[in-house]
Amino acid sequence: LAEYEELAKSVLDKPAYDYYRSGANDELTLSENLQAYKRIQLYPRVLVDVEKRDLTTTIFGQELSMPIMIAPTAFHKMACPLGEIATAQAAEANETLMVLSSLSTTSPEEVAASTKGPLWFQLYIYKDRNLTKNVVERVEELGYKALCITVDAPLLGRRERDVRNRFSLPDGLRIATVGDYLEKSMAENSRNSSLNVYFASLLDQSVTWKDIEWIRSISKLPIIVKGIHRPDDAIKAIEHGIDGIVVSNHGARQLDTVPATIDLLPSISNAVNGKLEIFLDGGIRRGTDVIKAIALGARAVLIGRPILWGLAVDGGNGASAVLRLIKDETDLAMALCGISKISEANKDLIGYKNA
Ligand code: FNR
Repeated sequence: LAEYEELAKSVLDKPAYDYYRSGANDELTLSENLQAYKRIQLYPRVLVDVEKRDLTTTIFGQELSMPIMIAPTAFHKMACPLGEIATAQAAEANETLMVLSSLSTTSPEEVAASTKGPLWFQLYIYKDRNLTKNVVERVEELGYKALCITVDAPLLGRRERDVRNRFSLPDGLRIATVGDYLEKSMAENSRNSSLNVYFASLLDQSVTWKDIEWIRSISKLPIIVKGIHRPDDAIKAIEHGIDGIVVSNHGARQLDTVPATIDLLPSISNAVNGKLEIFLDGGIRRGTDVIKAIALGARAVLIGRPILWGLAVDGGNGASAVLRLIKDETDLAMALCGISKISEANKDLIGYKNA
């Protein structure tokens, strides 16, 4: 997948490439998310019948062809003209699911109409609770299968290249979920990344577990809380009746110097003890990374940037190729690990370098 990033860099405008690629501040977590996988070693079983291999997984009753989903990322039309519709079609072609970002450049209605595949919606809780409620009701009505509430972004992390580039959406693109609200604040932007202005004006820094309870009370959909870093927060999610968590540091775009998500997973998985579904994202670039995350307790992983690189290189076909590549790598890694079902990946496959 790394080669897709190189190719994407050569075709994207610099501000767009910088926006997709960047992490917060010194990007220490950005590099940790990748490096952590290199410290984990696999201990394969041999002489196991791996002729037939099963990568399928079931999530909230939905069967997927692989434990790899598409993370919510903003502004897909900056990568290719069809934007989120191309992504949804790539997900459908690979029998997996896409989490549509609140910052999508295509409306939830258009995305839902473009695919028969399962979709989740990534929600931010807005200051305006009527707006929030309206979005929740809209996506539930449209058949989105779950709400993924992102909780690690009361404000936007500082991505310095975006500030320097005075990043804003290219002409003609808009945030299709809540466009009207947004356009006012973006228009007023001059000195900052306009996304920072958006977050500061629209998102609610006072959100607590009470607000998660409120969302629970207004929606029947499964609720996943995205951005969990600590076992005690995972336990609170269980106590609040949440169905799943994403162990995520927002692709290293929020608080810099937090650990790699894969290093947080074992203690969170221990604390959760099967009481809700655990997903993980951040730095998944190889099939062996997928095996490591499943072995350490994730039901499935999500990938963010590689999908954007695929879109930039060849639209929906590029995103689809990225999904196929990582699926094939995962399948091969399973065979070489001596497991025939992805659910058989467990901790005894794992060792830590220099431990
Ligand atoms: C994101 N991410 C993100 N998360 C979210 O909940 N809502 C969003 O709108 C976005 N937007 C976004 C834009 C871009 C350009 C990136 C790279 C990331 C975070 C995303 O869901 C996921 O957590 C990370 O991308 C996973 O890390 P990798 O796979 O990119 O390393």
